[in-house]
Amino acid sequence: MTSVPLQPPVPAHIAIIMDGNGRWAKQRGLPRLEGHRRGVESVRTVVDAARELGVRCVTLYAFSVENWRRPGEEVGGLMALLETFLHRETPNMVRDRVCLRTIGRTEELPSGARAALKAAMAATAHFTDYTLVLALNYGSRTEVQDAARAYAAAVLAGRASLDDAASWEGFSRHLYTHDLPDPDLVIRTSGEKRISNFLLLQSAYAEFVFTPVLWPDFGKAELIAAIDEFRGRERRFGQITEQLAAANAEAEAQRPADVII
Ligand code: FPP
Repeated sequence: MTSVPLQPPVPAHIAIIMDGNGRWAKQRGLPRLEGHRRGVESVRTVVDAARELGVRCVTLYAFSVENWRRPGEEVGGLMALLETFLHRETPNMVRDRVCLRTIGRTEELPSGARAALKAAMAATAHFTDYTLVLALNYGSRTEVQDAARAYAAAVLAGRASLDDAASWEGFSRHLYTHDLPDPDLVIRTSGEKRISNFLLLQSAYAEFVFTPVLWPDFGKAELIAAIDEFRGRERRFGQITEQLAAANAEAEAQRPADVII
């Protein structure tokens, strides 16, 4: 009989601002799109690694509402990469029991990307083990605008009451993320220390890790380092350390006896 130690905490939901593709390409004298292409390889690596480490949900900031301002060629290239990614990865997501979701105004994406998303989401909708969320044409401010509009429409139609918005639970059910857990850890690569309109409300209590590594160079080792940094943080959710210690002791006391193997 061997007692198994408690698993160290792994964040249930990691959200990532994938930054630095352009600089990665520039450093090598390559076109920006080559940086994005290499960035897609990091997406595959990191999503696989997160699943292997027991992370249940990963959200990737793949295209923001502000990204339309980039040169048309780059926007078109990113949409083409998204389509290729979806065609190539859907069988792997099915194999790995990953449910694909999106947040953002995806109805404004080009028809090819919309069709590829629809097919990938239909093929993976029934999986509940892991979730990959692509933030596409996403911005926190437009999310709030869309939520306010949806809430007002529900009130006008008699499906919601004005009092619903008195609680966060009541209002947040109109956000794109209504059925997703809040991120525990938000990572931004490339050394920039901004949130850039990403999950502003949902990351209210998240831990942030900013790494200088450019996204195309971000792999399993870098993900593990970020999770290690997360583990070293104390998340107090507005409480004081002593309250957390007491709550942890109580949870520990109620935990069934050590697992026997
Ligand atoms: C930021 O790097 C990255 C983006 C705006 C797009 C991220 C997209 C991908 C990784 C590829 C497509 C994603 C999927 C899921 C298929 P940047 O271009 O702003 O880099 P820079 O700041 O160095 O210029």
